[in-house]
Amino acid sequence: MKRLASVGRGGSGKTTFISLMAKYLIEKGETPLLLVDVDPDQNLAEMVGIDLKEEGKKTISELLLETFLERGGTTIGIPPSERIESQIWEKGLYEGDNFDLVAVGTKFIEGCYCLPDAALKKALEDLTKTYTHVLVDSPGGLEHLNRRITSEVDDIFDVIDPSQKSFKHVERAYRVAREVKINFKNFYVIAGYRVPAELEEEVENRIKLPYLGKVDYDKDVEDYVLSGKSLLKLPASSSAYKSVKKLMAKAGY
Ligand SMILES: Nc1ncnc2c1ncn2[C@@H]1O[C@H](COP(=O)(O)OP(=O)(O)O)[C@@H](O)[C@H]1O
Ligand SMILES: [Mg+2]
Repeated sequence: MKRLASVGRGGSGKTTFISLMAKYLIEKGETPLLLVDVDPDQNLAEMVGIDLKEEGKKTISELLLETFLERGGTTIGIPPSERIESQIWEKGLYEGDNFDLVAVGTKFIEGCYCLPDAALKKALEDLTKTYTHVLVDSPGGLEHLNRRITSEVDDIFDVIDPSQKSFKHVERAYRVAREVKINFKNFYVIAGYRVPAELEEEVENRIKLPYLGKVDYDKDVEDYVLSGKSLLKLPASSSAYKSVKKLMAKAGY
């Protein structure tokens, strides 16, 4: 079992990349997967063709609100993370053929992620054992690293866009991940679809971390996202998917 997580600035292509990694692992038969959406904006479910509301599933934040506020939840003697756990598996987990999916959802209380984080962390630690791989989609920025939901990760994939800030982001992300003691094995850099092919060499030279390659631009990806079609259904000829397959092979998958 491996845990894979995306990082990077907003719009760099993290969620698309996670979706395409899922497609690759599903096609290789490395299932079941658990997809975890940590981004409050929640794009992952839609990109893999799922409507959590329609499925009757709630986000972890919603479940926490229900448990602690609406029911006036007394927590005497029971750690919140344990009480919420069965709720998550019952009402929060979407269960599909090849993958399950859970979303953390919006902030529980403005500025405080601590409760959902603790709940998710505990729940993930317990259930991940039944999955072949766990894929975590992160929001833009680095704050979530501090939250340490994913304190045990095998591979971190930093998807960069063509900007100075992106180079700085990589260095900072790596440093922060080390500082907050996220236990990761590999920290890979990926050029997102907006990085022009002719800049790849510069990226590789400037970045002192292992560079896996570039996700190619693909008009189909844009169209699928616009029309709400699952990226898992992209044809084998998709240039973005083909490049992700190459990157994954390079990372040993
Ligand atoms: N390989 C690609 N080819 C073309 N467009 C892409 C590609 N990857 C992402 N996009 C476009 O960029 C948008 C943002 O991508 P997304 O994966 O949501 O970024 P992030 O999760 O980093 O914010 C998507 O809605 C899609 O339209
Ligand atoms: Mg995203």
